[in-house]
Amino acid sequence: MLRCLPLFAFFIALSASQPDPRSPKLIFILAGQSNMAGRGGVVNGTWDHIIPPECSPDPSILRLNAHLRWEPAHEPLHADIDVLKTCGVGPGMAFANAIRSAGCKGEIGLVPCAIGGTNISEWEKGTGLYERMLRRTRAAVEEGGGSVAALLWYQGESDAKERAEAEAYAGRMVRMVRDLRADLAAPHLLVIQVALASSEGNFTEIVREAQKGIKLPNVVCVDAKGLALEEDNLHLTTQSQVHVGKMLAAAYLRHAKSHLQRSLFENCQASMEYNLFLILLLKISCLLIL
Ligand SMILES: *[C@@H]1O[C@H](CO)[C@@H](O)[C@H](O)[C@H]1NC(C)=O
Ligand SMILES: *[C@@H]1O[C@H](CO)[C@@H](O)[C@H](O)[C@H]1NC(C)=O
Ligand SMILES: *[C@@H]1O[C@H](CO)[C@@H](O)[C@H](O)[C@H]1NC(C)=O
Repeated sequence: MLRCLPLFAFFIALSASQPDPRSPKLIFILAGQSNMAGRGGVVNGTWDHIIPPECSPDPSILRLNAHLRWEPAHEPLHADIDVLKTCGVGPGMAFANAIRSAGCKGEIGLVPCAIGGTNISEWEKGTGLYERMLRRTRAAVEEGGGSVAALLWYQGESDAKERAEAEAYAGRMVRMVRDLRADLAAPHLLVIQVALASSEGNFTEIVREAQKGIKLPNVVCVDAKGLALEEDNLHLTTQSQVHVGKMLAAAYLRHAKSHLQRSLFENCQASMEYNLFLILLLKISCLLIL
């Protein structure tokens, strides 16, 4: 058995040499306002630096930084994007780790774009935030290949202050999704929204109904209502963000399995088969040596 050790080490190294370069990068746009940017663990403008295991870094999870370069992703994901506020834990890392655990071998590329305190009018086509999201997404695709798998959207707290804005939310969201799909030439782009858990005003239910009722194909919704908030009563706690990340991942996996990214899932399966093949090879080699 001892003679097998070097071989064993060799095969372990081979199978652990992820990310598998044969798989295209799965790219996710993270956009919206503060609860997407992440305020988990931030109290009175100070982040507690507590990172739960679900949000740990992983060599195959990357983020597009403010200079449009891929780098290993870590909390806070939006630190160089939402620069005017103190960022903490958001849903992005928990989301990516949950996708990773589902068995995909390729790289996961996160494109953080969220800015705290923004209303949906500031994300309209032609505005600074929309154009920046578009620019970052295009750069993400060009920098090393891959395809945009979904937009993860957590926004609307700022639109719940006035009845008129809350009532205009549904129309504005539909327009934003249509414009983004057209600009990215991705007419079926999956959009996963988070229905609000909190807001800055009295018209939260109107925004939530808009989010849950959007009638566009491939736009789905997960619900954050009832999750624990920080003492500001507006921002999700770190544990709540982990929960949202997992809900987003479950929604993505459900959708990907039944719809669009069949080919990407075949890729995942191919890489799992590749690993099984390596293990088989190892066993045969060991048998031959012994
Ligand atoms: C944050 O600030 C508020 C109001 O100034 C104070 O009551 C609270 O104790 C502070 N919390 C922490 C954890 O420092
Ligand atoms: C959205 O926010 C911007 C910037 O704070 C503000 O100028 C604008 O009036 C807001 N729009 C709506 C429709 O509330
Ligand atoms: C919500 O409504 C209450 C009662 O009408 C009012 O006192 C409060 O200022 C409103 N809150 C906001 C943020 O508009």
